Amino acid sequence: MGEVESEAVPGQPWSQFHNVLGLKSFGRRLDILRRQYLNHRFDRRSPLDPLPDHLLSRIYDHEVTLPPRRLLMQPGAQTIDGLLFVASLAAALEARTVFEIGTFTGVTTWTLARNLPEASVHTLDIPPEGTPTWTVEKDDVHRGSEENLVYKRLPAGGEITQHWSDSATFDFSPWYDTIDLVYIDGAHSEPYVRSDTDNALRMMSGRGAVVWDDYWRLSPGVVKVLHERSDIGLHRIPGTRLVVHVGRDAEEAILRGPRPT
Ligand SMILES: C[S@@+](CC[C@H](N)C(=O)[O-])C[C@H]1O[C@@H](n2cnc3c(N)ncnc32)[C@H](O)[C@@H]1O
Repeated sequence: MGEVESEAVPGQPWSQFHNVLGLKSFGRRLDILRRQYLNHRFDRRSPLDPLPDHLLSRIYDHEVTLPPRRLLMQPGAQTIDGLLFVASLAAALEARTVFEIGTFTGVTTWTLARNLPEASVHTLDIPPEGTPTWTVEKDDVHRGSEENLVYKRLPAGGEITQHWSDSATFDFSPWYDTIDLVYIDGAHSEPYVRSDTDNALRMMSGRGAVVWDDYWRLSPGVVKVLHERSDIGLHRIPGTRLVVHVGRDAEEAILRGPRPT
């Protein structure tokens, strides 16, 4: 499609001149620049530091498998850079147990299981017909469903267990102190992020880590809760909207790096 649209909008004959002058595309570019500026400003003002380079480079030393191209960059799913980080971190931790809050299509679920053939991967989503206990954000529009789970149609890796429940009422206690990687990507409103965070920190094992998605200017619930909890040691992952909390033993595992092949 061309950059300049020259057709007039019905009932607005002047609109063709507006488009001929390229103002529509100029407006779009201006909007992209505005959003980029706001994203940079959010990063600059964030009280959370990026994960130090010596840990980040060790994490990215691991070789990982990503899903087929057609499943990447789908609305509501994790970005390629986000998947790369989460899978690399899981490999660096040699995670034996994973718990994801917010399955959606299961792209991240599959990526984790594929890269951790020995692991047990739990993933939780609210049933499609379920009504959330607390209010959700207006951008909480993506919902998981049994029919759209991509991990059912891809080569197997670690064992995946699907749970269907509202995270506000789900009983996480059977997994307390046992999960090596918790990934929080469910509802984005403040009460949900607060409750999911509390449950994640309780589930995290001594050698574990917790990752949150959607730390950015348009998810105020995530931002508020993570700023409140920054005392536990939270770090942004450059190029993503992810934040990570790495336990002391997890840090040691990361620094050991990949095993020689
Ligand atoms: C952004 S999507 C998750 C994307 C997925 N983690 C990925 O990386 O591709 C958010 C998911 O959270 C789920 N969700 C929303 N509210 C929830 C709740 N109260 N309890 C559990 N899951 C919830 C939605 O159904 C949706 O599937």
